[in-house]
Amino acid sequence: MSFPGNVQALRDLSLRVARGSALALLGESGAGKSTAVAAIAGLLPRGATARGQVLLAGEDLGRLDPGQWRGRRVATLFQDTGDALDPTMTVGAQIAEVCRLRLGLGRAEARGRALHALRRVGLTDVGRIASAFAHQLSGGQRRRALLAVALAAEPELLLADEPTAGLDGTSAAQVAEQLGALTGHGMGLLLVTHELGLVARLARQALVLYGGTVLEEGAAPELLLRPRHPYTQALLRAVPPGPGRATEPPRPLPGRGPGPSEPGCPFAARCPEVLPVCRHQRPPAFATPDAPTHLVHCWQRETPGAPVGQGAP
Ligand SMILES: Nc1ncnc2c1ncn2[C@@H]1O[C@H](COP(=O)(O)OP(=O)(O)O)[C@@H](O)[C@H]1O
Ligand SMILES: [Mg+2]
Repeated sequence: MSFPGNVQALRDLSLRVARGSALALLGESGAGKSTAVAAIAGLLPRGATARGQVLLAGEDLGRLDPGQWRGRRVATLFQDTGDALDPTMTVGAQIAEVCRLRLGLGRAEARGRALHALRRVGLTDVGRIASAFAHQLSGGQRRRALLAVALAAEPELLLADEPTAGLDGTSAAQVAEQLGALTGHGMGLLLVTHELGLVARLARQALVLYGGTVLEEGAAPELLLRPRHPYTQALLRAVPPGPGRATEPPRPLPGRGPGPSEPGCPFAARCPEVLPVCRHQRPPAFATPDAPTHLVHCWQRETPGAPVGQGAP
């Protein structure tokens, strides 16, 4: 995926979100997570080019009219959505409009559905919030109202970029509970987050991005407990301890992120275990001997005789 001026923001990314499950996308700022979300939603910035395919239940979205699926079968909660609500309409009217357009509901039914959607994301006093305009809400309320808009159409797939960012603990827990309930009802979720607690709670699979490439992927519990890539290990150490996490203090990663198109492993310049080969040859996916769907792109983890993985598990 390239931007004007030829930044290659992503390379060879292949994701699979199973129905009724969540895939977590991990990685520090600049890794390419939001770009991946925008590419899947077909909403890359002007001038950006992407090659690839997005299949929803086997259907190639590139061949469909976006009006048929965007905001309907596939909903997106973007990362920076301070101004994504329409300032000229009340929050309730916006959700009701989604329900009318996408679900074909009548006016009264749509209004009822809007209140329900606001309640589902953990908002209280939903009557007041429904009749408020965006500028009358707090940041956390706006974030949850946007999630309510995204969920109102009952999407098959939700792309959620940092859905709990900026929320207080209680609100974040309510949003997490709601996302868990929806995946329980069959929705697929692509979850971009820095909150490892959220990953542990919601995600079945996890994938670690760095410099626009995949470094590690596998079942989320396995990856969180036994990270194998030196970058993932550092990333998990850099996150403050939470419930169920070791009590070691967080250790920030030294150094800066990768340049756009280095030839070898994008983490080589910062890697504590770097080998000469890492600087000029990109590592393929090596399977973990006792966990064959746990793949790691790292020359240090090359296990003689172990099969080379074929991409997303
Ligand atoms: N509109 C854009 N124009 C140029 N470069 C961009 C644009 N959007 C993102 N990038 C670059 O793409 C890379 C990935 O960015 P992003 O997807 O936002 O990362 P993340 O969400 O993981 O923090 C970064 O190097 C960023 O600078
Ligand atoms: Mg981002």
